[in-house]
Amino acid sequence: MKIAAIDLGERPVLLAPMEDVTDPAFRLMCKEFGADMVYTEFVSADALIRSVSKTEQKLNIGDAERPVAIQIYGRDVATMVEAAKIVEQAHPDVIDLNFGCPVKRVAGKGAGAGMLRNVPLMLEITRAVVDAVRLPVTVKTRLGWDADNKIIVTLAEQLQDCGIQALTIHGRTRAQMYTGEADWTLIGEVKNNPRMRIPIIGNGDITTPQRARECFDRYGVDAIMVGRASFGRPWIFKEIKHYLQTGEDLQGLTPAWKLDVLRREVDDSVRLLDERRGILHVRRHLAASPLFKGIPNFRETRIAMLRAETQAELLDIFRQIEPLLGIGSSASDRQPDSFL
Ligand SMILES: Cc1cc2nc3c(=O)[nH]c(=O)nc-3n(C[C@H](O)[C@H](O)[C@H](O)COP(=O)(O)O)c2cc1C
Repeated sequence: MKIAAIDLGERPVLLAPMEDVTDPAFRLMCKEFGADMVYTEFVSADALIRSVSKTEQKLNIGDAERPVAIQIYGRDVATMVEAAKIVEQAHPDVIDLNFGCPVKRVAGKGAGAGMLRNVPLMLEITRAVVDAVRLPVTVKTRLGWDADNKIIVTLAEQLQDCGIQALTIHGRTRAQMYTGEADWTLIGEVKNNPRMRIPIIGNGDITTPQRARECFDRYGVDAIMVGRASFGRPWIFKEIKHYLQTGEDLQGLTPAWKLDVLRREVDDSVRLLDERRGILHVRRHLAASPLFKGIPNFRETRIAMLRAETQAELLDIFRQIEPLLGIGSSASDRQPDSFL
């Protein structure tokens, strides 16, 4: 599958853009585990053109994570065009436009999924950004505003006519936020529309390698995008890629290995952010990680893990968790050479 000239290979698996989650350390880790393309969290066009330094930092990308998309959101044409030109200077591989964010502070102001209520403006912004930059421009959006307005099949054609190079569809409406189940049937309908030429990237509720394959097989999408299932489980890309290639579950990822991955996530986050922000960042991953699910009497340790304020404290708790996960001191538990 290709986005413009960027070859993502067969059945690519992408890391979804996620605010406060897909920072450089996490993107790189997912990339190393097999994500075929990664996205920054969304970047406010308004803040970018005002040179807000915290926002500018979100444009920091590294060569090792390529291909990488920088995603922007906003609600007026001139601002989005100017922001896209600033983003172009950061040299991502792709500029992605967010027309899917459902949260009130964004959609309520007409940006993100709010654009689903003003399609003419959405198309005008898209056309203007495509014309203003040389990089490939893509869009990520939802099925529509609510159950009575699932406009994606027509909208996909309109966006394609604006010159975008790929379209990501999250199979929910804005009204659904993140509730209910993602509906992939309409994603499949877009893909099977004979008028569509650009790649369609399907997104929503991919949590297992089996579901990943089903989404390719049943709905015919060109790529899939994984979001929340990567929390505390960046190795899901390795599991999905292996399953897509062999039809078999990946064996041999031991608890010791997974804990080492999480240790590295702590290290990377603290190194690339700072201790306080790094710890805050990994908390969400630790809270969601399947590694700790099902450990008997884990409540107290879990609370301590999520309250730890320093790297040393956290690593100490990890050491206490080792025996709970059945990890001995044997080096063979660890697979030290096979981090990837
Ligand atoms: C914490 C969080 C932050 C998100 N931030 C963004 C974002 O910045 N841009 C975006 O397009 N989508 C964002 N999303 C939506 C995801 O990219 C994705 O579309 C959604 O989670 C559905 O996929 P999933 O079921 O695999 O998680 C976010 C989702 C979550 C849970």
